[in-house]
Amino acid sequence: MRVRVFETEERVARALAARIATRLSVQPDLVLGLPTGRTPIPLYRELVRLHRRGRADFSRATTFNLDEFVGLRRDDPRGYHGFMRRHLFDHVNLARRRIHLLNGAAPDLERECVRYERAVERAGGIDLQILGLGLNGHIGFNEPAPSLMAATHRTRLRQATRRANVALFGHRLHDVPTEALSMGMATILLARRIVLLATGASKARCVARMIRGSVTPRLPASFLQLHRDTEVWLDRPAASRLGAAL
Ligand code: GLP
Repeated sequence: MRVRVFETEERVARALAARIATRLSVQPDLVLGLPTGRTPIPLYRELVRLHRRGRADFSRATTFNLDEFVGLRRDDPRGYHGFMRRHLFDHVNLARRRIHLLNGAAPDLERECVRYERAVERAGGIDLQILGLGLNGHIGFNEPAPSLMAATHRTRLRQATRRANVALFGHRLHDVPTEALSMGMATILLARRIVLLATGASKARCVARMIRGSVTPRLPASFLQLHRDTEVWLDRPAASRLGAAL
């Protein structure tokens, strides 16, 4: 894993948005994997800004989001569909038919997961997967567990993860769904390139374990050590424990 440390989260966002814009100009039909959460918000803001200036053209690009809550309709503003619309999709020129999200309200969730895996395959796989990092080391909604799932699947959310998402649900923990659909570990690790973003001091310990600790399903992000082209982009606070003992 290659590690890049920036002074602030804005600088991380600016550099990654510029990287994506350049990739889009070289390969307009780029297939992007996208995360939700607090961390990528500055990145999406920056991508929208570049798009408005004519410097990021998404017209031929394809996107796949990592995950979605079970039980929320696509038009529910609390879900990740709504999040992505607000922060990116409504503001750039992505073609609707090339935007892919898991449908957590599908009548048959197992089939929905299979459909998603096939859609990723049909798109030729993911060229650049952007990831956030859960406080407990999850990526997508691949939660720490004795074993991990390779393919896109239905999963139960940890309490800590539900709490981390509570702001989307008007700060009512009770309203945060208990289950989600998530790309699997192999779906993520088959991406040709991966950039994991982590910002803020709260992520520092997890970042250090992910990079320097053992590869373990207790910290799903540690599996990124097995990927040949993964970069970890951090701000100073998130990198602050890299020199410390684990
Ligand atoms: C959620 C998402 C993850 C994301 C994580 C981190 O649980 N499912 O994909 O990486 O939150 O969120 P944040 O960036 O808000 O710390």
